[in-house]
Amino acid sequence: MGTHRARGRSIFVSILLAGAAVLLFPALQGSTAAHAEGGDSLVAESVCDAQRLKAMQVEDPHLEIEIPAEFDRPFPTLAACESHEAALDPASEGPIQPIAFSHKHHAGDFEIDCQYCHSGTDRSASAGVPSVELCMGCHAQFPAEYDQLEGIQILKEHWENGKSIEWVQIHRLPEHVKFQHQAHIRSKDFGGPEFECQTCHGPVENMDKLYMTPDTKFWQYGLPTQKLEMGWCVKCHRDNGASQDCLTCHY
Ligand code: HEC
Ligand code: HEC
Ligand code: HEC
Ligand code: HEC
Ligand code: HEC
Repeated sequence: MGTHRARGRSIFVSILLAGAAVLLFPALQGSTAAHAEGGDSLVAESVCDAQRLKAMQVEDPHLEIEIPAEFDRPFPTLAACESHEAALDPASEGPIQPIAFSHKHHAGDFEIDCQYCHSGTDRSASAGVPSVELCMGCHAQFPAEYDQLEGIQILKEHWENGKSIEWVQIHRLPEHVKFQHQAHIRSKDFGGPEFECQTCHGPVENMDKLYMTPDTKFWQYGLPTQKLEMGWCVKCHRDNGASQDCLTCHY
């Protein structure tokens, strides 16, 4: 798949890092739980482990690895394992979500359309987040070994208990402001400017863990222009000849 070539460099770097981790701290590393047995053969303890070891062996053909049959599976792929881990990285920006869901893996690598999951965006004020049912529409079809990913176990628990997922909200305007997605997404249909999701949300398809992209903060027309501040909205409305009437944006 072309995506692997595109991501070659970052995978290569991760492999080097993972390689160092496995060789130096086999027992300490939780995520790469492979351990050396007897001689210097590294034994995989999960499918993700196996994917990492196979990738390391491609780099270093002399590396001795052992993959038990139960972990010698095509899924989850190495990219999925890495995204799952990166979405949980406390050092990267953005809140830790209840499930390590990666936009990079779904919207980037697999090119799932933003509006497949945020389906209200062109029809209603809010974009919304997808239901457990929508996730399961794909994930119910995955092989059983995919459940080794913690995020998938949590997803399935919610599915079995009929509970929705409490995603941590990232964008939030105050109650007195009305924002409408559909006016912006459909603006092009009425001869207005065309906006991508990325115009306002940044390169979401490159983010494992989602965060609110900062905008350059400066003052214009006496207003701060950081994202979600009034000056941000007003500046773009002014630049594009859209309404600046107070009641356009305020109740
Ligand atoms: C259109 C199909 C589709 C939908 C809808 C979907 N997924 Fe996925 N998901 C995939 C595919 C394909 C993979 C990657 C398979 C691989 O590379 O191993 C994946 C991988 C994952 C992973 C592992 C990588 C990562 O992102 O951490 C998790 C966790 C996950 N999905 C959770 C979810 C959740 C939660 C939802 C709903 C919000 C969801 N998925 C909706 C297709 C889908
Ligand atoms: C497979 C389903 C799926 C796809 C495809 C998807 N998203 Fe999401 N999106 C989610 C889920 C689940 C959340 C909540 C968890 C999170 O924030 O990561 C979310 C959250 C968001 C948020 C933040 C919501 C908030 O709380 O403020 C934005 C913005 C967003 N997505 C934009 C996009 C854009 C832009 C694309 C396309 C490039 C996209 N999404 C593709 C499932 C998806
Ligand atoms: C003109 C700027 C703009 C564009 C374009 C835009 N958004 Fe948003 N988005 C926002 C703002 C502002 C909020 C916060 C809304 C609120 O708090 O009421 C938001 C919130 C969200 C949320 C959080 C849930 C919600 O509905 O409040 C999601 C998910 C989201 N956007 C996805 C998308 C997707 C997907 C697209 C493209 C189809 C998109 N957005 C295009 C500005 C934009
Ligand atoms: C990237 C540019 C851009 C940003 C940022 C932006 N808007 Fe807009 N907005 C537009 C344009 C252009 C239109 C006119 C669309 C059309 O052709 O109808 C519009 C239309 C609207 C409308 C509908 C007006 C009507 O006549 O029905 C509302 C409400 C609105 N914006 C509120 C906001 C708020 C609130 C914010 C900030 C949180 C915001 N917008 C940020 C470009 C932007
Ligand atoms: C294009 C959209 C837009 C227009 C037009 C607009 N506002 Fe706002 N306004 C906002 C947003 C978004 C906020 C919330 C900013 C924040 O919380 O930092 C806001 C906040 C405010 C606040 C509260 C400030 C605070 O610190 O809490 C006042 C007062 C206000 N606007 C007055 C007005 C008046 C008066 C007009 C007309 C001259 C106007 N707004 C036009 C988007 C708009």
